Amino acid sequence: MIDKMHIELTPEWDKLEEIRLEASRFLEQHGLTESVNQSMVMVLSELLENSIKYGSFSEGSDKVSVRLEVGRDQITVEVTNPISDSALPDLNSLDRMIQWVRGFQDPFEAYVKRLREISKRPLDDRESGLGIVRIIYEGRVDLDFFVTDKDLLTVSAIRNL
Ligand SMILES: Nc1ncnc2c1ncn2[C@@H]1O[C@H](COP(=O)(O)OP(=O)(O)OP(=O)(O)O)[C@@H](O)[C@H]1O
Ligand SMILES: [Mg+2]
Repeated sequence: MIDKMHIELTPEWDKLEEIRLEASRFLEQHGLTESVNQSMVMVLSELLENSIKYGSFSEGSDKVSVRLEVGRDQITVEVTNPISDSALPDLNSLDRMIQWVRGFQDPFEAYVKRLREISKRPLDDRESGLGIVRIIYEGRVDLDFFVTDKDLLTVSAIRNL
């Protein structure tokens, strides 16, 4: 049996907390461990933040779409947002980051390496580039993304149970 949750939201930062709570309540119904629940909510949260930051939304209408699925063997988190032609450099960054982490036998090594790199940077340039690595390492998920012909980007994270 697969149980699903689907939420659509307008891309506003204020909505994040409510979505986190809803996702958490949904996951809690499935007898998973607290640690699995928390890490999947973290994954969702990072993906949602990226969607809001990097998505290309037209005034008032476009939405971010969130899908959560819990099956017997795996949990899937999918976040979809509209993109425009100007998203190409971001998609390349996303792709490179995912490929980079895959190059390590243990994602923990990638995480540590990334943390070191970030800590060497000047203080005013410390915001970024940890989310994807964190999702893969802490969330223990396989991360992938695809673009559909409707200019929608979906990033999916799958955790095997
Ligand atoms: N939904 C998305 N749409 C387009 N590009 C994305 C998306 N998510 C991530 N990216 C690209 O992948 C890069 C890496 O994402 P990541 O979450 O690791 O870093 P960040 O969001 O820049 O920083 P942090 O998550 O540490 O605040 C981003 O800088 C962006 O260029
Ligand atoms: Mg991020």
